[in-house]
Amino acid sequence: MRPQQATAADHESAQTAADSHPDQMRLQRFIARSGGPGRRAAERLILQGRVKVNGKVIDQMGVKVTPGVDQVTLDGTVLELPDSKVVFALNKPVGYECSMRPETTHPSAAELIPRDQYKGLVHVGRLDVATTGIILFTNDGDLCARLLMPKYGVVKSYRAIVRGWFEGDELSKLRAGVKWHNVQYSPPHVDVVEQNDIAKASKRFHRNIIVLPHGAKTEMTTIKSLQRFDHVRLPRKTTVLRISVHEGHNHEVRNMCAAVGHPVIELQRLSFGPINVNDIPVGTYRQIVGSELQQLYQVVGLQ
Ligand code: URA
Repeated sequence: MRPQQATAADHESAQTAADSHPDQMRLQRFIARSGGPGRRAAERLILQGRVKVNGKVIDQMGVKVTPGVDQVTLDGTVLELPDSKVVFALNKPVGYECSMRPETTHPSAAELIPRDQYKGLVHVGRLDVATTGIILFTNDGDLCARLLMPKYGVVKSYRAIVRGWFEGDELSKLRAGVKWHNVQYSPPHVDVVEQNDIAKASKRFHRNIIVLPHGAKTEMTTIKSLQRFDHVRLPRKTTVLRISVHEGHNHEVRNMCAAVGHPVIELQRLSFGPINVNDIPVGTYRQIVGSELQQLYQVVGLQ
């Protein structure tokens, strides 16, 4: 199929992305430095319409790109500078530890990303072994440090299944910001998504309900992620919360919920700043590029 021709607006949008960043370079230089052909050959490839920037064919000279922000492809293959900064988003399964060390008691989440191809990748903060969902990895130290600084208030959203139903002022206490083991938590944003009662659910979702060895019943979706933690006993009544925080304390969601008497049974991180887990199957990752990457840099004032 003949590649789609770039319009003036495409050139302009590719240019706008590049202009806002100090590390921009000419497209032909980027191609040459990425281990591809020399600069003259790179110019020919551009004129032949074989190069795309952020998904748009660029077939004229004069476009600049920002390494690590703009995605450049040659005949569909992503080009990268040997020392480029990268960000990956992994949908961590339960049972993996956020550690760059070789396996200790649990396998390392880093095994699930292409860590051998990029020097200096680190995880941005941590998820507990039992928590699933989005965890970012990057080799950009400034970005990593800022994403973790409370000063930038990067919002992280979770789906938490907790024990019991909220009564009295428990929910308002949670929303006001609790103190637990001498740590004062800032007020999180909390929505109650649903309240479940297994006895009632078993009638409604008959086919999805399974009986655990200790006699409790649960939905299939819940038990799948708990199967490595069979010491967890499921209560009859549970509440599903969506809870957003902007600090970064250890075990913060678990501690906040425990402080109001509703311990977490299952926890999934849905988003980290502008990056969400929706289109990443569990146990897989995707590289953050283009406008999404720009947004990530923007939320911490790096663009
Ligand atoms: N809060 C927790 O309690 N655990 C996590 O893994 C992440 C946030």
